[in-house]
Amino acid sequence: MTGRGSGPAGRARRAGEFSVLPLESHAMKQAEGRRVFIQEVSVRDGFQIEPIFVPTPRKIDIVNRLSRTGLAKIEVTAFVSPKAIPALADAEIVMRGIDRVPGVVYAALVPNVRGCERALDCGVDEINLVMSASEGHGRANLRMSPEQSLAAFGDIVRAAAGTGVAINAALSTTFGCPFDGEVPPARVLGIVERYQELGIRSASLCDTTGMADPAQVERLCRDVRSRFPAMQLTAHFHNTRGMGLANVLAALDAGIDRLDASLGGLGGCPFAPGATGNICTEDLVHMLERMGYRTGVNLPKLLDIARELPDLVGHEIPGQVVKAGPSERRYPLPDRA
Ligand code: COA
Ligand code: ZN
Repeated sequence: MTGRGSGPAGRARRAGEFSVLPLESHAMKQAEGRRVFIQEVSVRDGFQIEPIFVPTPRKIDIVNRLSRTGLAKIEVTAFVSPKAIPALADAEIVMRGIDRVPGVVYAALVPNVRGCERALDCGVDEINLVMSASEGHGRANLRMSPEQSLAAFGDIVRAAAGTGVAINAALSTTFGCPFDGEVPPARVLGIVERYQELGIRSASLCDTTGMADPAQVERLCRDVRSRFPAMQLTAHFHNTRGMGLANVLAALDAGIDRLDASLGGLGGCPFAPGATGNICTEDLVHMLERMGYRTGVNLPKLLDIARELPDLVGHEIPGQVVKAGPSERRYPLPDRA
């Protein structure tokens, strides 16, 4: 993306003169009718960091209602150690208890073979493997180095072979690590190459603690896409530093069409200092639909569910459209006008 109106044409304009400069951003030029797939992570990435345990029937109810909003994928839970993530200790009950709406992919996060076996037992559609690009976050979150995680992925791919269950591999701290700092792009490319060697065809580039900026996102996403054109890519952003939706436009510019997002903007990794929420699903859908993208998601239905979240989690939520209403909202003129 380049700025509009800042070049020579912008400066040459005289006061009162109106000219329409062409849109230079690919994401803005090519929005009309372009399909973007929205993948919901609130029940996993969102609830995992909440200090309260969201009751199992409420989790199931939320998944069931989200299933009927047009979302492409829902990450339902995580088959991780219940000691590491007590908030998702009910993974089996939730996964087995939900309605499975045709067309929606029901995924679950898995860090190791034990998690894979649990997920397969519950009949997940997709296993979302998780590892970190950086040593520091890998050890803090999973007690595994990137190499150890890749070895576990090999075992998991073998365990899942022939089951028909899809595999996506998520790469945490792709754009920076709160412990180790910068993550060299070459390391990210090297790990995606290892995914490909393992036969994994789908990967998520995750900005775990909102360190990415749009220029970095566009560059790295373009590099990954051009090196691995057959890999289906998802971008996963957290809004920790207010760059989440800007990063979405950069990822779209780079040709990515799958985005993770969390209802209400809940979310964060409990083992990453300062982690805060994912980009907010309803804010994302609102922005993309206004721009002309097709998300297939029903915004009023999403907003209905989002409105219940503050009561459910016991605090305000970061989402903004749920507070302001969609841009189409109109107010009666006040008497004094
Ligand atoms: N599901 C359930 N229990 C599991 C498990 C899984 N997938 N993997 C390991 N465990 C259990 C073991 O049985 C063992 O239990 P015990 O203490 O009762 O004997 C305990 O967890 C420790 O097992 P170990 O293999 O030594 O794991 P670890 O302590 O090195 O932890 C992980 C590794 C990956 C299991 C753990 O760090 C984890 O679950 N992390 C997930 C973090 C997360 O989800 N973060 C947010 C998403 S980004
Ligand atoms: Zn996340």
